[in-house]
Amino acid sequence: MTNIISTQINPSLTKLTPYEPGKPIEELAREYGFSPNEIIKLASNENPLGPSPFAVEAIAKNLHKIHLYPDGNGYALKKALAASLDIDTENIVLGNGSNEIIELLFHLFASSPTEEVLFSKYAFAVYKLMAELFGASFKEVDDRSFSHDLQSILHSIGPKTKLIFIANPNNPTGTRIPNEQLYEFLDAVPERVVVAIDEAYIDFVPDPPQTLSFIKKRENIVILRTFSKMHGLAGLRIGYGIAPKSIANYLQRARQPFNTNFLAQVAATASLEDKQHILQTLKITEEGKKRLEDGFNRLGLRFIPSSANFILVHVGDGDYVFKSFLKKGIIIRPMKSYGLAEWVRITVGTPEQLSKLLEAFPSILLPLRTLDKK
Ligand SMILES: Cc1ncc(COP(=O)(O)O)c(C=O)c1O
Repeated sequence: MTNIISTQINPSLTKLTPYEPGKPIEELAREYGFSPNEIIKLASNENPLGPSPFAVEAIAKNLHKIHLYPDGNGYALKKALAASLDIDTENIVLGNGSNEIIELLFHLFASSPTEEVLFSKYAFAVYKLMAELFGASFKEVDDRSFSHDLQSILHSIGPKTKLIFIANPNNPTGTRIPNEQLYEFLDAVPERVVVAIDEAYIDFVPDPPQTLSFIKKRENIVILRTFSKMHGLAGLRIGYGIAPKSIANYLQRARQPFNTNFLAQVAATASLEDKQHILQTLKITEEGKKRLEDGFNRLGLRFIPSSANFILVHVGDGDYVFKSFLKKGIIIRPMKSYGLAEWVRITVGTPEQLSKLLEAFPSILLPLRTLDKK
């Protein structure tokens, strides 16, 4: 039988490399016979403290209403966000995770080979994935010392360039852009080119850049935020874009009618109130990062100082170290798919989780070091 469908498929899909997420806990449990409760996942930059109790309570209170469609416009969540950010609700677009806002930006600006997207060489994988899916042209601009090279990105802007993605702090490197440099960059980008500043990890930065002020003064800036990291709601899939009203209006047109679900909306709205959960998360992240850094230093491992809730660390053979940790019930993230085969990325976990990780490290590194010496 000839495979007729394969000749009918959108050619962009045949070239696309699927996204490789962090290994799910249940999958490791099935493969190695662990109980899911004993597995430690430090692979997807989730909040190790879990969701805010406010979110859990809000979900419990609203469970009996899940037979109803959600408010497609997410009125209550948008109102709460607008009040906390001092912007108008018309500046906000809710998404099924901030990933959806990334996709919507491609719908708006980059869906053909004549439209080009720029991002750094070590950037969040979904930018490239979407460019491939939409058949847009893209350039991966060389970074400098694992940080965005903003000058190079500016020089790479050409007549076809429509969209630039800048994650700050960046994933997978964890590096941040000094605020003044970011402002200069945003002012220098021609107004016909849209800059998406992906702030998935901005809640972990003590002195975040005032990017919201750019929404008020420029037409070409979009900010992406998520409830998946600091707020611990990754499983609910809820994020948002903040954009000038003209762009926000088009993003609204491009989205599905009920793109964010009801429980996600109520949980996110409740999470915004829980300052205690945010403070606790910041505290364990800062303390955990310090512990990891000290541990890596003791082990003689090079790492990239991080402004987010994870650290990129050089282990020599990322796949080997990833697999060795799996055998011990610990999931970290190998970085081969990011072009960083010698590195792994580790999310900052609870003190107990980090103790187990750091305890396991020396024996896992031993065979690699013995090989090095041969
Ligand atoms: C830089 C960056 N942007 C966006 C996302 C997507 O987050 P979500 O779709 O869960 O909001 C992630 C998730 O890891 C990320 O690291």
